[in-house]
Amino acid sequence: MAEDAERPGAAWWVPDRLEPGTLRASLQHCQGCELYRDATQPVPGEGPADAAVMVVGEQPGDQEDKAGRPFVGPAGKLLDRALGDAGLDPAAVFRTNAVKHFRWEAAHGKRLHKGPKRTHITACGPWLVAEIDMVRPVGVVLLGATAGSAVFGPGFRVTAMRGQVLSWPEESTRPHSWTPEWAVATAHPSAVLRSRQRDEDYQRLVDDLAVAAQLQAGPVTS
Ligand code: URA
Ligand code: SF4
Repeated sequence: MAEDAERPGAAWWVPDRLEPGTLRASLQHCQGCELYRDATQPVPGEGPADAAVMVVGEQPGDQEDKAGRPFVGPAGKLLDRALGDAGLDPAAVFRTNAVKHFRWEAAHGKRLHKGPKRTHITACGPWLVAEIDMVRPVGVVLLGATAGSAVFGPGFRVTAMRGQVLSWPEESTRPHSWTPEWAVATAHPSAVLRSRQRDEDYQRLVDDLAVAAQLQAGPVTS
């Protein structure tokens, strides 16, 4: 498939009115990069529109692409369990992805996940900014390198930054938009599923999410 370097990015399709139905409807038409061509449908973020915490993944997987909903597959199940174990109510978080269409390649009659390129992350950025402006989360959890680099730029290293309280980079959002108070980066749940030290890596994921849970709970007052 030809990569369309001259495609404009998503900004043209993002509506002025930031409300879940409007955002969802407009997203269906996005052709901000070439990924819309081979995907079933775009996958908008989902969760309470006033969630205090937003969780950002990479891109929809095979099951999310078919369902049109984020984190409904194996990674999502592991994420829910880890959120619960960390003390965050999975039903209370807004879940979304840095890139809204599934990027894949055909292999042995299957659709194999292929990570988004920098150009896709950049092209799709306006949707993530719009979701952040709509939900106005107090904090954002970044799952893996793609989500991390969508907010902090290509130099961001999850391994070096995970589990720390990060402040939101002003330059990642458009003028006059919402600035979350904190961000916490951690591994992507898919990486935990693939890991050979799964128990250990799962615990590290929970420990990082617990930092977010503590921030969300706020300072302990006596
Ligand atoms: N992995 C992601 O990053 N997002 C999903 O929605 C599902 C799997
Ligand atoms: Fe638009 Fe993002 Fe889909 Fe590209 S991946 S077409 S920018 S919604």
